Parts: sequence; C-alpha cells; structure tokens
Amino acid sequence: MAILFQEKDRTFTLQTEKSTYQMKVDRLGVLLHTYFGAATDASDYSYRIVKGDHGYCSQLGDAVEDRTYSMDYYPQEYPVYGTGDFRITALRAAKAGCVPSLDLRYVGHEIRDGKYALPGLPAMFANPDDRDVQTLEITLKDVREELYVKLLYGVFEKRNIITRAAVIENRGSAAFALHRCMSMSLDFLEGGMDLIHFYGKHAMERQFEREAVRHGITEIGSQRGYSSHHHNPFVILCDRDASEDFGGCYGISLVYSGSYRIQAELDQFDSLRVTCGISDEEFVWNLEKGGSFTAPETVLCYSPDGLTGLSQCIQRAYLRNLIRSPWKDRKRPVLVNNWEGTYFDFNADKLLQIAEQAADIGLDMLVLDDGWFGRRDSDKSGLGDWYVNEKKLGCTLKELVDRINGLGLQFGIWVEPEMVSEDSDLYRAHPEWALTIPGRAPNRGRDQLVLDLSNREVVAYIKETLHSLLDSANIAYIKWDMNRTVDNVYSAADPKMSQGEIRHRFLLGLYEILGSLRESHPDLLLEGCAGGGGRFDAGMLYYEPQIWCSDNTDAIERLRIHCGTSFGYPMSAVSAHVSACPNHQNGRVVPFKTRGICAMQGSFGYELDLSRLSEEEKAEAKRQIRIYKDHCELFQQGDYYRLASPFENRDYAAWSYVSQDRGTASLSVVYTDQHANAKPIRIRWKGLAEDAVYDVDGARCTGAALMHGGMVLPMPACNYDSFMVCIHRIS
Ligand code: GLA
Repeated sequence: MAILFQEKDRTFTLQTEKSTYQMKVDRLGVLLHTYFGAATDASDYSYRIVKGDHGYCSQLGDAVEDRTYSMDYYPQEYPVYGTGDFRITALRAAKAGCVPSLDLRYVGHEIRDGKYALPGLPAMFANPDDRDVQTLEITLKDVREELYVKLLYGVFEKRNIITRAAVIENRGSAAFALHRCMSMSLDFLEGGMDLIHFYGKHAMERQFEREAVRHGITEIGSQRGYSSHHHNPFVILCDRDASEDFGGCYGISLVYSGSYRIQAELDQFDSLRVTCGISDEEFVWNLEKGGSFTAPETVLCYSPDGLTGLSQCIQRAYLRNLIRSPWKDRKRPVLVNNWEGTYFDFNADKLLQIAEQAADIGLDMLVLDDGWFGRRDSDKSGLGDWYVNEKKLGCTLKELVDRINGLGLQFGIWVEPEMVSEDSDLYRAHPEWALTIPGRAPNRGRDQLVLDLSNREVVAYIKETLHSLLDSANIAYIKWDMNRTVDNVYSAADPKMSQGEIRHRFLLGLYEILGSLRESHPDLLLEGCAGGGGRFDAGMLYYEPQIWCSDNTDAIERLRIHCGTSFGYPMSAVSAHVSACPNHQNGRVVPFKTRGICAMQGSFGYELDLSRLSEEEKAEAKRQIRIYKDHCELFQQGDYYRLASPFENRDYAAWSYVSQDRGTASLSVVYTDQHANAKPIRIRWKGLAEDAVYDVDGARCTGAALMHGGMVLPMPACNYDSFMVCIHRIS
C-alpha cells in the first residue's frame, strides 16, 4: 500500500519503490514533517527531532509549559505565518485590517485510490491501468478561525513520484486575504545539500548551475507572468557528492506556467526549508466567505541513484502521467518550419516550393510560422487579427493547406493568442482587453501588449477564434507562441476584483483555452513556445507534448540548452530543428551532419529554406530523416543518458538513448574543440544489458564491454565534427 496511516503514532507514511515520505500529527495536533528520502520502513521518525530550549524560539500558546517546543525549529508540513516560526512559510493570510496570523492543527484525513485532480489547473494523473496510485488528503484548521487547509498528496508508487498541492477554504463569515499560498513546503533536518537550478536568458535557456545551499534564503523564480527563460521552475537538491550515477537527489518541479517562487532557507540549526508555489510578489487573493483557493501542484521525486536516476524517473513519469495529449506515445511528425527560412517574406508559391522539397526529402509536415494573418508583415502589427491574409498568401488558407496535403504533407500553423498589437483591428475594437494601467503609457515588449486573460470575454473570443481557424482548413499542429513579459497588470473587466488576483486568473484563462482545444481537437499536436523556451515547464507540458526549446538554433549552443533541459523534462518534449549556416543567432558555421545529430536529440525538424539546400545537403537531410524515423521510438521513449556534459567538458558533449527493453541504443558525440597531438577519447555506454551482444556497425560487442571497456571515438576531422552510432542487440 502506498499510503499508510498508523493510528498509534499518528504517522502518515507514503511509500514509493525508491523513497519514503513521512508526517506525524503531534500531541498538539501540529502536522510535523519527519522524513523524506531513501525508501525505509514505517517506523516513527519523529525521534530525529532533537528537542532543546533554544533561545529566542518562542512557544505556541498551548505549549507554554514546554520550552523545547517551538515552531521556529520544528520541521513542519505546511508552516504558516503567525506561529512564532520566523523562517519562510507556506501560507500567509489575514482578515481585512489585521496582521497575518494563523495556527493550523490537524482535524482529519482521507486516503483513496487514484489521483486527485485540481479543477482548472494542470496536474499529474493516473491512467486507467495504473493500480499503484493513491491520494491522501489531510485537513488542517486554524485554531480560531473557520479557515481550513487541505493538503493533497498523490503517490505514484512505481514511478517514485509524490505530488503535493493545497486547497484553502474559508468556511467562516468574514473574508480573508491570502498574501502567500505555496503549493508545498519541505523541511530537511540535515540541510547540507547542493542546489542545482537552471538559469538563462532569451536564446540561452536552462543553463546548469550547482552550488552549496548557504545560510539565509536562496531564491529562484519569475515575476514575469510566465515561467521564464531566466529561471526554470525545476530544481534539484542533492547530496554534496552526488554525481550522475551516485547519491541522493530530490527533484522539485512546479506544474505551473506563471510567476513562481522557489525558496530554500538554511536556518540556525542547519536545517533546510524549501517552499515552492505561485510568486507572492503581486499576489493577493481575496478569499470570500465560502470561497476556496487551489495552489498548483508540485511534483517531488527522490532518487537514490544520482542525477541520471532522477532525470529518468521524472522523464518517464511526465511521459506517462503528466502529458495529456495522445501524442506523448505517437511518432512525432518530422517537420519543416518556415520561420528562419523566410521570416515574414513569403506567399503561397514560396511555401509550396518549400513543401515540394520537404516531400522530396521525406518530411511529414510543413509549419507556417508568423506572418500569415491580419496585417502582419513585421512584428509591429496584426496580433489579435487571426484571419488569413489572402492578399499576401495569394489564396485562401484552405486552398494552401489542400495543396500541401496533396504533396503528402500535413500542415501546421503558428499563433500567439495571448497577445495584441496596438495596430490591429482587435485592439481598435477592444483597447480595454489589453492589460494596461489606467492613465499610464503601457510598457511594450516586441511592440505588443498582453491580452487580459482574466477577462471572460477575452477567453471566449480566443476560444472562438481558434476554433474557427481550426475549422477553416486541415490543420494538424499548432505552434502556440507567447512573446513578451506580462506586466502593467491591471484588468478593466471587473474593477471590484482584487488586482492581486489577475496574474493567476490569467493563467487559469490560458489553461482553460488550452483545455478546451484538447477536448475539441484531441488529435491536434500542440507545440509550445515563448520566444523559444521561455515557458518550458510542467504546466505547459500537460497541454503541449513538445515545446520549442530555444530561439537559439545554433547546434553548439543547443548542446547546453538541451543538456540543461534534460534534467527535468523528457527529451521528446524538446523541439529542435536544423537551421541554416552561418547561424542566424550567433553566426557560427557547423557541419550539416552535426546540426542533424544535435537536433535529433529532441523532436526533430528543419527550419530553413529547403529550396536552398545543395544536393549534398539534401542527401544528408534524407539520411538524417531516415535515421530519425527508423529510431523514433528509441529517441522518444528510450532512457536518456548524459555521458559527457557540455557544461563540464570543453572538448565534446555526448549522450545516448537506450530502449526500455535494452534492445536498441544510440550514442551521439559532438566535438566542441579539437587539438593537435590530441589524446584519444574513450566513452563508456550506460544502461545496456551486460550479457547481451550488440551489433555496432557490423562488429559484435557485449554490453559489458561497451559499458566497462567503453568505445574509442574517432577523432574530429573538422571544426564541430560529430559522430553517431545506433546499435541493436543480436543475442
Ligand atoms: C518567436 C518564436 C520563433 C518565431 C517567432 C515568430 O520568437 O520563438 O520561433 O515563431 O516568434 O515571430
């Protein structure tokens, strides 16, 4: 059983195959956190809390006789502001005109089979044949007020995943304002860990950074209204000596795409508290009498098997239990996107010229990017006017799509529905639909404004527009973009509403639209995008099985971007394309072969004018497409291994995929530097079957030899050379 409540000790023990998580209701009804780590038995781990009379640590009112009892150092499950705990807390709420002060105690719990859902929010789910998933709901209540907190836990026993969320209910007669409402808090009694997080910027997302957690508060987050290029809402806490293959690692991933905050506080006794949830920077939620607020889900994963073990657990769990789209199990189309090939300068003839080449080299789909709608010949106008510019195209959208379909290709299209250009029919008709502060010139980003998705009318308009676009032609794929920060947050829709709610209501509106598309067009393949990989998070993955990973298409910089992304997300979610050289972002020239190998790390495609390829490049593209299609299942469903990290190794990056049955595998190497009189490079495969014999380019090698003796790599013959081999088991 995944969840065990022991009446005698009043402990809740959550078991997965590789981890154990425990809480205890203490004598005063406070819910303590007693253990999270390697799988162990259901003993009462509260003995680990060593009590003492610590100076300047106050007692709760009903514990006053015991000076060793203090919230200021007790590990708690959902610490609140107002109990004398001066560390970061999970919940801060107050009645009008009062200072925030709560004191939550246990009132009951329920254990049930299956996984809880969060209305209106993305969350992990159990498939009909998952028998190992249970939910625990613990109810806490303030000692004085009718304010209830439901802590939700989803335990995926076989996947080694525990999810958490919180629902706050006001059953009293007066309104409360929530000033901070985190999805979860985790207390570690021994805080000597490293924090790994993924920072970045536009065109250089998810860069790996590892440092020892220091005293005080370390924080990563986004106040930008989207999860952001700058910090990803996925972090790892690990043993100081944890490596790819060894050591305890905790993954913490927020299933949310808006502003967020993850904080880690190492306290006076070297205990560590980590909180994760919606950013409280501009957040004030008005919790009326009878109202409730749901904090989004956090996914927790403990791996005793190092960083590779952690990544693989999360990747499998997301592929199976987070991504809703049926595309998670389907072969993704290999496509060509016209953006870097034509930018805004195209018409139907040009697109058909690209489509003919695409069909010739074996591609599956043409994606028409920005510039097909309204008056959109540059990024200064047209957003919001989602009707096709027939004058520019020279035909209707349906005519274009039919002709592309006639060449044997599917058709995909770009949209950016959350935005509006001031120079658009939509803005002229509804200026009040944009988020702007009254009386103040709005901040602009890429010359566009953000639509107010907290406004029901705007949500209805976007849904209707998208549905009629999808009905107008045979569209198999949508690239959903979002190209600026959300600021100047003021909604004109309901002046009585707390403006501190708008950011979150925006996300609820966005999720509602994406959810309605999933329902009305379940087979539509949605690809996410936000100026590249600015919204690469578990929340979007729920709706979008793949996400354009970066606007940086340089194969060499992509090595780092892909590697950073691989820590917390499945590689099939990483959309990656071969683009032209010199590269449009950094001017680098990389062999066509290497560009292909790098892009095959994720969901593969091309982003250039195919009609400009040389015969040699075309032949190479055909070869790449064949390799990708032949090994699609391996790349999309196989286990991914980081063999040489581009963050640590100057000379090359290497990775491999191994199929679930270990029958096929691939190894890819990209050389990032080269030397005279160079030392030989040997690389060890991982994850193969020791006793199997594999065919390696005609040679017979045992799994043991490939993993322990390793493989000697060819030396690079030119700048940014690369090497890829696919092997299969022969006995
Ligand atoms: C963003 C995307 C690009 C492209 C352009 C179009 O920058 O990340 O891939 O779609 O918008 O304007």
